[in-house]
Amino acid sequence: MDHVIGYDLARGLHIIAVIAWISGLLMLPRFYAYVTSSQAGGELETAMLKAAKNLRLIILGPSLVLAWTFGLFLFATYLAGDWTRPLNEVLGQVPHWFWGKLLLVLGLSGYHGYLTSEGRRIAKGERRRTEKFWRLMSEIPFIVAIAAVLLATLEP
Ligand code: HEM
Repeated sequence: MDHVIGYDLARGLHIIAVIAWISGLLMLPRFYAYVTSSQAGGELETAMLKAAKNLRLIILGPSLVLAWTFGLFLFATYLAGDWTRPLNEVLGQVPHWFWGKLLLVLGLSGYHGYLTSEGRRIAKGERRRTEKFWRLMSEIPFIVAIAAVLLATLEP
């Protein structure tokens, strides 16, 4: 079968999805910080709860799926070739930095899941964390993103 989309297009779409994903992860804990600091039942709380829910549904969910889909497509190109070889030879074609990046993106995905489940608790009215905690949490994806991008571009 011929290629449905080419490598460079997949790379571009991967980066676009990653931009949306990381921006969403940077924003979501900020919304939680606003909810936490706002008056219970007030206008700001209602607006921020709605914004957080929409962000999760419209931006974060789809961009997680697309970043992984295009990322795994790019990954599959490492494995192309003769499938009758032993598995360790097939996996030997994967550059070493990729395993470090995989750890980082699994961590980001776990962080995403954590934020989603905390968001449900917050929507129910639970306030287990401080505003400061959520502000600190919103810095994490940026630091991880710097490491993930440099691994992918410097290919150390
Ligand atoms: C979600 C799971 C992810 C998978 C499976 C994945 C996998 C990949 C693969 C296999 C490539 C091709 C690298 C090459 O040129 O050989 C790639 C490219 C790239 N990835 Fe990811 N990635 C993921 C998430 C991310 C994230 C979260 C970021 C940034 C925060 C990121 C940033 C990049 C960049 C900038 C490139 C282009 C590198 C280049 O072509 O020079 N990726 N990704």
